[in-house]
Amino acid sequence: MKEFLETVNFLKKEVAYMPKIAIILGSGLGSLVDLMEDKKVISYQDIPNFPVSTVPGHKGELIFGRLNNVPIIAMNGRFHYYEGYDLKEVTYPIRIFKLLGVETLILTNAAGGINLEFQKGDLMIIEDQLSFFAESVLRGPNQEEFGERFIDMSNVYDKDYIEILKPIIKNITGKCLTGVYAYMKGPTYETPAEIKALRVLGADAVGMSTVPEAVVAKHCGIKCIGITCITNMAAGVKNEILTHEDVKETAKKVENNFKMVIQKLVSKINEKN
Ligand code: HPA
Repeated sequence: MKEFLETVNFLKKEVAYMPKIAIILGSGLGSLVDLMEDKKVISYQDIPNFPVSTVPGHKGELIFGRLNNVPIIAMNGRFHYYEGYDLKEVTYPIRIFKLLGVETLILTNAAGGINLEFQKGDLMIIEDQLSFFAESVLRGPNQEEFGERFIDMSNVYDKDYIEILKPIIKNITGKCLTGVYAYMKGPTYETPAEIKALRVLGADAVGMSTVPEAVVAKHCGIKCIGITCITNMAAGVKNEILTHEDVKETAKKVENNFKMVIQKLVSKINEKN
């Protein structure tokens, strides 16, 4: 707990007020930060006990500010398990958010489409998640200060916010998809056989993030909202080779719509609270 409090005390000294909404910016959504006002930007490397990105050129900043006049904390650059962090490091910021008073966490990501009705460039609201092939981030002695040992996972993604999001996405993109996000550890994309198996298991999209963060948020009682950008159809769905460049290119094309969705959503959350 001591290390968490050191981090929290540092941030409280740096920032005058504490937002109740945090957002983790997934691939291609980093420029949301440009729409924020009254920004206080803090590099991860300057925050005591925060994990530090080892990947050259990787953004790693926590930004406090206002979006549509609503105070938010944005995390530009997240920690992935495939980079070599352990799961405690991957989810360290979530517990910091809790201690800062955050009540709602918006998780965004890029993922491959498994559902055959999906198309590259679609936005999908995450209704539920699958993570059979990864160890739980809560493995080990329970951190009682944050939550209980055994956690009900019936509603990881807040049902009220899912309903609020549906018309927002429909108005902006013309359609509204919901689905199940399957977590794979990466860094390889999946094989076609894995994708077939995930489809049978009930997955609509597959990616390498979000689930550890959502589990820790659920454990400590932060409401979660998840939005996925389908940047490509998953392996074997189309006769295509997957590349990170293609993923980034699609994410870039969707960026403006995605940013509008987040702006509207943040205003709605603010009205509700
Ligand atoms: N698989 C896993 N992660 C991803 C994908 C994918 O197809 N696309 C973007 N992130």
